[in-house]
Amino acid sequence: MSESLHYQSGFGNEHASEARPGSLPVGRNSPQKVAHGLYAELLSGTAFTAPRAENLRSWMYRRRPSVVVGSYVPLAHAWLKTGAAEGQVVPPDPLRWAPVAIPDEPLDFVDGLRTMALNGDPDAQTGIGIHLYLANRAMGRRAFVNADGELLIVPQQGALRIRTELGLLDVAPGEIALVPRGMAFKVDVDGPSRGYICENYGAAFRLPELGPIGSNGLANPRDFLAPVAAVEAEEEGAYEVVKKFGGRLWTALQQHTPFNVVAWHGTLAPYKYDTAHFMTIGSISFDHPDPSIFTVLTSPSDTPGWANADFVIFPPRWMVAEDTFRPPWYHRNVMSEFMGLVTGQYDAKPEGFKPGGASLHNAMVPHGPDTEAFAKASGAELKPHKLDHTLAFMFETRWRLAPTDFALNGGALEKTYADCWSALQDNYNEHP
Ligand SMILES: [Fe+2]
Repeated sequence: MSESLHYQSGFGNEHASEARPGSLPVGRNSPQKVAHGLYAELLSGTAFTAPRAENLRSWMYRRRPSVVVGSYVPLAHAWLKTGAAEGQVVPPDPLRWAPVAIPDEPLDFVDGLRTMALNGDPDAQTGIGIHLYLANRAMGRRAFVNADGELLIVPQQGALRIRTELGLLDVAPGEIALVPRGMAFKVDVDGPSRGYICENYGAAFRLPELGPIGSNGLANPRDFLAPVAAVEAEEEGAYEVVKKFGGRLWTALQQHTPFNVVAWHGTLAPYKYDTAHFMTIGSISFDHPDPSIFTVLTSPSDTPGWANADFVIFPPRWMVAEDTFRPPWYHRNVMSEFMGLVTGQYDAKPEGFKPGGASLHNAMVPHGPDTEAFAKASGAELKPHKLDHTLAFMFETRWRLAPTDFALNGGALEKTYADCWSALQDNYNEHP
């Protein structure tokens, strides 16, 4: 991964790139003959008639169209699950997991997927699947296509090189990647690698509206980077294409690389984004604002304001509010909150929540600062304070998340998590 890659800036705008000059048709999308004998192929991320502002599609000019692939046969995967129906029954307790160790056995990005929690149904185009990935080797001549949803990838340990049909993305912890539904990609690692994935069955992730914030702030569109066209060198031998389709994996062999797009243009693209570029907004007077102020990307549902999924980050930031309990307040919420920690400490759980770990506070499950965080924040001198060297995040969704059998019985569940609140005392009589 030594060479540095080139990118195109901007989220959802009309990108254009050619690995060989003169490959992109001018003035039309599907001319009778494409230059250099290439095939034109359209990938649509939305219905043809989706409103213009939401319409996502890209034209690819490639050495062979993606229809040239062998027959698919089922591929077993013990740990990859799809939709609410494959989740387990859980009590309404807060749940937390220790970091899951990266195994020594050879695992690529697909082998190493471990589903943690689920809701919705990809056939109904609602809900999400939340997975961990644990990988220690490159995918080699193996590609992955997810027909069930787009993938939001949050590396926690190890940098990834993601080769997509539209080009290459280098993504390190602190950055995220977004791979559109149905786009072939593969992942190379630089050592033992772990991270989180939100598989989005619903409407494609987009930037949130900014309302009174105005035209700048939070995640700015120009900081999203799309790749430039890059054709993988052809080698002898079969290429495996693994497809997730209807909640199951399927595998087929072809005799050429699927990463053969010489030129492309359009609005549907994979992206990387560095969370260090997120312009964080918070209170400069009093009170802890709702965490929606930290939304990077949102997948709307059919009900305005009730997201199918939000991707929310808690990055380094200054805390300056006066007469305010600065960590998150105690609350319960109609939305369900799955949290992960990329690095550092999370201010509501300074000790128990570990980088690489996770927590789930489902719909109407109360949660908030643990006993230690409450005591510290209640007595702290309220001078300006920098929360630094930290990156927590949340996949938040309007539908209840059902943990998987792996999540509940895979060994990482902390059975005593709720004890972190048990020492909170009744102080009422001490303050008559
Ligand atoms: Fe919460």
